[in-house]
Order: sequence, then structure tokens, then C-alpha cells
Amino acid sequence: MTEIPPVPAGKPISASRTTLSHIMTANDTNLLGTVHGGVIMKLVDDAAGAVAGRHSGGPAVTASMDEMAFLAPVRVGDLVHVRAQCNWTGRSSMEIGVRVLAERWNESTPATQVGSAYLVFTAVDSDGKPRQVPPVLPETEQDERRYQEAQIRRTHRLARRQAITELRERRAAEGLDD
Ligand SMILES: CC(C)(COP(=O)(O)OP(=O)(O)OC[C@H]1O[C@@H](n2cnc3c(N)ncnc32)[C@H](O)[C@@H]1OP(=O)(O)O)[C@@H](O)C(=O)NCCC(=O)NCCS
Repeated sequence: MTEIPPVPAGKPISASRTTLSHIMTANDTNLLGTVHGGVIMKLVDDAAGAVAGRHSGGPAVTASMDEMAFLAPVRVGDLVHVRAQCNWTGRSSMEIGVRVLAERWNESTPATQVGSAYLVFTAVDSDGKPRQVPPVLPETEQDERRYQEAQIRRTHRLARRQAITELRERRAAEGLDD
């Protein structure tokens, strides 16, 4: 008889919430002299990966990144803060929400939000196979809203994937190979 592993105990969102801060340098710029979007995406993936590892208590890989929005340019000298938290958990996957803020080096104004993203990480074992994660426990009304919104995004991701798979199967059955 196959043994079903016990569901790990739940973990509060605050236990793995993480902020990664980084000062932008001339190495990070694009041809316009502002920070390259890919540099920000790397920081987003790093911060989200730290949250996924801390929440799941082991290795986790990026399965997808969606809704990466760049709201304002980041400049050389800006102090960028990447805030990430686990919004939702499935069996082995976690949705990590990320907010990117920038403090201008020459202004004493509050940090401006310059970007946001949602990533799905899957916790894996030493063979790279998905493993079970602890259910995430929302602690505030805002956490609860984010959990519910993440559930909507999850439903849409699965529906989109299913619809595309069905379309490809239909086309293949009609001999429309590409
Ligand atoms: C992510 C990965 C482990 C999934 O493995 P798999 O054999 O397809 O496993 P499953 O289909 O059982 O999916 C496992 C979980 O991941 C989720 N998942 C898989 N692919 C996904 C995708 N593209 N987007 C969102 N979630 C995804 C599934 O919904 C499932 O979640 P659940 O357990 O909470 O229900 C595998 O595709 C992989 O190793 N990808 C490469 C990841 C990587 O190397 N990232 C770094 C990029 S260089």
C-alpha cells in the first residue's frame, strides 16, 4: 500500500515575507540610460525565490511569471526594494506576489511603486519532482484579499492551459500539423 505523506502544518504569510534591497548602478542601464527591465525581473525572481524557499522549507523552482508590470522608470543611484510574500498555496505550488519600490537618491520623498508581478514557484525534492508545501495562512484582511485574488489567477491559468491544449489536439486531429 502506498503511504500518503501527511499534509505539513500551515505557516503564516509573515513567516516568509522578504524584502531585497539593491542600489542601481551604471551596469544596470539600457540604451536610454534608465534601468533595464531584465535587471528588475532578476531581482523579482530572486526575492520571490527566497520567499518560496523559506515558505516551503527547501528548494523551489520558478514555474511561471505573469502580470509583470513596470509602472515608472528606475534610474541609476535609486535604492530599489523588492517586497515579496506568499499569497497562496496549492499542493506543491505557491503564488508569490512581488511589489517593487524605488527611493530616489536625490529626493527625500517616500518610496514610489515602480513595478509588480505574480510568480508561481513549485517546491521540488532532490529528484526535481514536485513536493507538498505547507498551506499558507493569511493573517490580515489584505492577505485574505490577496489569497482570493491569487485563487482567481490560478483558475484562469489552468483554464487557459486546458483551452490551448484542447485547441492543439483538435488541430492535430484535423491533420493541421505545425
Ligand atoms: C515546475 C515543474 C517542477 C512542474 O513539474 P510537473 O511535472 O509539470 O508537475 P505538475 O504538473 O504536477 O505541477 C506541479 C505543480 O506546479 C504547478 N505548475 C506546473 N507548471 C506550471 C506553470 N507553467 N504555471 C503555473 N503553475 C504550474 C501545477 O499547477 C502544480 O501545482 P499544485 O501541486 O499546487 O496543484 C517542472 O515543469 C519544472 O521543473 N520546470 C522547470 C523549472 C525551472 O527550471 N525553473 C527555472 C527556470 S531556468
